[in-house]
Amino acid sequence: MDFTRLWLGLLLPWVAALDFRYHHQEEMEEFLKSVAQNYSSIAHLHSVGKSVKGRNLWVLVVGQYPKEHRVGIPEFKYVANMHGDETVGREMLLHLIDYLVTNHGKDTEITKLINNTRIHIMPSMNPDGFESVKKPDCFYNSGRSNSNDYDLNRNFPDAFEYNNVSRQPETLAIMKWLKTETFVLSANLHGGALVASYPFDNGVQATGALLSRSVTPDDDVFQHLAYTYASRNPNMVKGDQCKNKMNFPNGITNGYAWYPLQGGMQDYNYIWAQCFEITLELSCCKYPREEKLPYFWNDNKASLIEYIKQVHLGIKGQVFDQNRNPLPNVIVEVQDRKHICPFRTNKFGEYYLLLLPGSYTINVTVPGHDSHLTKVVIPEKSQDFSALKKDFLFPSQRKLDSILVSHPSCPMIPLYKTMPSHSAATKPSLFLFSLTLLHIFFK
Ligand SMILES: *[C@@H]1O[C@H](CO)[C@@H](O)[C@H](O)[C@H]1NC(C)=O
Ligand SMILES: *[C@@H]1O[C@H](CO)[C@@H](O)[C@H](O)[C@H]1NC(C)=O
Ligand SMILES: *[C@@H]1O[C@H](CO)[C@@H](O)[C@H](O)[C@H]1NC(C)=O
Ligand SMILES: *[C@@H]1O[C@H](CO)[C@@H](O)[C@H](O)[C@H]1NC(C)=O
Ligand SMILES: [Zn+2]
Repeated sequence: MDFTRLWLGLLLPWVAALDFRYHHQEEMEEFLKSVAQNYSSIAHLHSVGKSVKGRNLWVLVVGQYPKEHRVGIPEFKYVANMHGDETVGREMLLHLIDYLVTNHGKDTEITKLINNTRIHIMPSMNPDGFESVKKPDCFYNSGRSNSNDYDLNRNFPDAFEYNNVSRQPETLAIMKWLKTETFVLSANLHGGALVASYPFDNGVQATGALLSRSVTPDDDVFQHLAYTYASRNPNMVKGDQCKNKMNFPNGITNGYAWYPLQGGMQDYNYIWAQCFEITLELSCCKYPREEKLPYFWNDNKASLIEYIKQVHLGIKGQVFDQNRNPLPNVIVEVQDRKHICPFRTNKFGEYYLLLLPGSYTINVTVPGHDSHLTKVVIPEKSQDFSALKKDFLFPSQRKLDSILVSHPSCPMIPLYKTMPSHSAATKPSLFLFSLTLLHIFFK
């Protein structure tokens, strides 16, 4: 009697719940629904809106409390397939879901990760585009756009110039979703190249565009995030695996330095939703044959998990008044890292700041009142699935009622417009031009 085979025979139907092939909308729905049903204590499925053709934009949430936010547990998200013809990310996220739920309670790391993080997974932001592509094809395809022919990664408000496009249902659904949660960290998954690209995707002189790049005040954190992903993907980190395409040292790049774009999702997340998002290009071929999917999973599994853990970088906590009531809309930022739209506490008085180890001065400001500066040291050794915890008691005795009702204002206009503007000559336009000619679009 071969016990190994007997055991494998018993285990396989459970372990191999998801096969390596492309799952179209109906099969994907079936899978997500059965995960939500079989693992209802840690998984919750909901739709955040519909595509032009009425397909649901599904989000599966995995966490100890999947249905709602709990104070201290950071919100993380992955979004794939916003370009319908870039398909690897979509299947990777289905396998990630499978991996997370089947390893909960078995693998210590995964159990702790799920216990301390709320993980939102949207396998397809553009289901219409995906369904419109009939067969695998490595190159640009009309399925990139939604069914009104809009490129969704050019469809968001832009902080640097007017993006006067008709906002699409898929884009509006994401914008609405971002308002319902305090997302801290995110990645959106693409294909057609092999690189981890970080904000900004657009820029002005003030963000470094004269030097053909455009960086945020959190550039050190973004480089770390991108490298965390790239360094665990054995092909991405080499930086030169796609033939006839650009080389990326360490498998990472600043988005603008690669090629500038307007109305992208990652810049929108960072500027208007306080959420650090990067763009992951997972495959040289946009829509590879399904036989390749096991190899992509093998290359991306460790990166996908390790990237989620980064939501626990830095510092988090709550801001209270003298009576320990949580204070919303309080500006909590690191000195010398001011965001153009200041990061504010949510309705639970919570803040989350992603920071690398080091010394920082935290500036807590109740609008209309004095600022409060505190020195903190983020330790070198990472905590056990938690950022450093620090609450702030705001000493003001004055009445703070007004801030409880005032909504944080961050207008949907080009916020950097007043700063020194674009100089066409500094855009890496030659490369952009050649890309346009070849009809090669990735992010
Ligand atoms: C859910 O459970 C049913 C019944 O045991 C099983 O057939 C199905 O494969 C499971 N689905 C997942 C995604 O685990
Ligand atoms: C999960 O978190 C709870 C507290 O929220 C804790 O009691 C429990 O020990 C944790 N489990 C694991 C495996 O970390
Ligand atoms: C946007 O486009 C519409 C229609 O073309 C036009 O009426 C409007 O003035 C434009 N707005 C800006 C700010 O350019
Ligand atoms: C603290 O933040 C507030 C609000 O953004 C700002 O007005 C103030 O200048 C900051 N203080 C310091 C010392 O940076
Ligand atoms: Zn793309």
